[in-house]
Amino acid sequence: MHLFSSLILLPALCHALPSGRDSSSSDTQYTTSAAEKTLNPYPDHRVLAFRNSSTEGEYNFRLTVFSDVHFGENPWDAWGLEQDRKSLALMREVLEKDEEAIDYVVLNGDLITGENTFRENSTDLINQLLTPFIEHGVPFSTTHGNHDNQPNITHAAEIERELSIAPTQSFTRIGDADVGGVGGPGNYWVPVYLHESDPTPILVLWFFDSRGGFSTTPGQAIDDWVDDSVAKWIETESAKMNEAWGTEDRHALAFMHIPSHHIEQTQDELDSSKTPGQNGDSLGRGSTQDSALATRDQPFWDSLNTNVKNLIAVVSGHDHGNEWCARESSKDVVFCFAKHSGYGGYSRTGWGRGVRHFELTVQEGTEGVNAETWIWVKEGGEERARVTLGEDYGR
Ligand SMILES: *[C@@H]1O[C@H](CO)[C@@H](O)[C@H](O)[C@H]1NC(C)=O
Ligand SMILES: *[C@@H]1O[C@H](CO)[C@@H](O)[C@H](O)[C@H]1NC(C)=O
Ligand SMILES: *[C@@H]1O[C@H](CO)[C@@H](O)[C@H](O)[C@H]1NC(C)=O
Repeated sequence: MHLFSSLILLPALCHALPSGRDSSSSDTQYTTSAAEKTLNPYPDHRVLAFRNSSTEGEYNFRLTVFSDVHFGENPWDAWGLEQDRKSLALMREVLEKDEEAIDYVVLNGDLITGENTFRENSTDLINQLLTPFIEHGVPFSTTHGNHDNQPNITHAAEIERELSIAPTQSFTRIGDADVGGVGGPGNYWVPVYLHESDPTPILVLWFFDSRGGFSTTPGQAIDDWVDDSVAKWIETESAKMNEAWGTEDRHALAFMHIPSHHIEQTQDELDSSKTPGQNGDSLGRGSTQDSALATRDQPFWDSLNTNVKNLIAVVSGHDHGNEWCARESSKDVVFCFAKHSGYGGYSRTGWGRGVRHFELTVQEGTEGVNAETWIWVKEGGEERARVTLGEDYGR
């Protein structure tokens, strides 16, 4: 078993090597292909592309979402350390289960239970929690949550540490200084191509910083919604893409830790026969962006749903008891909760821990992207709530 795992890790470790300027490694190939692309923010990274499925002319891209891993909770007792060990075991099980299958990993916020961490070593937790992904060599990126902004930790500090240990494996970026507002630097997009050599992407992954939590200045809360500056940024970035790529014809997936406040209404309209998945967490104060006033994420929600076409789903964590995908009726967009993946963070008996998988499939010569998604739960190894997110989903 050990021999087997170290053998299969070899190609993965090659991918993890810093690429780009090192001409001795095979990573140079990624660089050449990446540099030829128009409007590519990642000239030094490998090109993210769909892979051939076993069916001729069919391509797949599997993206797996880990959410709310909540590392470093209760570091002062045995319980806390045990939770992190269990979270690492879950990550490794998911990554090793289907060795070749995962093309991209998203860690969708609340990486750290920041209110429990110490200033001098809080970002060491980033090294710990990213270890399985770095060892496995899978490309990944992160969003950040309300527990990642706390007196001894910030979103920016977590991102800087992540980029220092996985500079070309991580696709996370810090946005321009005037985008994101206080405590919200993590706004970026990532292109995914159908074939590695394509000049333009078929899919863009968007990542937004929903902020929340507290400032490093004691007692100062940080706004818990995506800042208005991001609404404008989505518009300008989309216009740049349309211009550079000569088309609006691409698909998208969007990720942010705290869901839009519109999801509260979606929960009231849920029909579990159409939208399966656990619905254990009743949404209310603190559960969605700006749940107190329920207006401040409106510019963001409007801009996202106006400028980003063919949005397959918007994916959030934050509410650990919920797993459903449903149609948000004000924008006619599918929203999905991820799955609580960490053993830190609140939970209840029966909720379990796991991940959400997306399997995207494209047939050569057709326009559409077929999107299947489901939840895998560690307890019992169960797969559930498998759905296809087409035009009719959730109606
Ligand atoms: C993928 O499939 C296409 C045709 O569908 C083929 O031309 C190509 O060589 C395949 N690539 C790999 C890596 O198998
Ligand atoms: C922040 O870190 C300092 C230094 O380790 C520690 O004394 C303090 O208790 C921490 N504060 C919080 C709120 O955890
Ligand atoms: C961080 O430092 C504190 C005290 O300074 C220590 O108790 C704790 O074990 C350290 N945590 C990690 C993850 O190194």
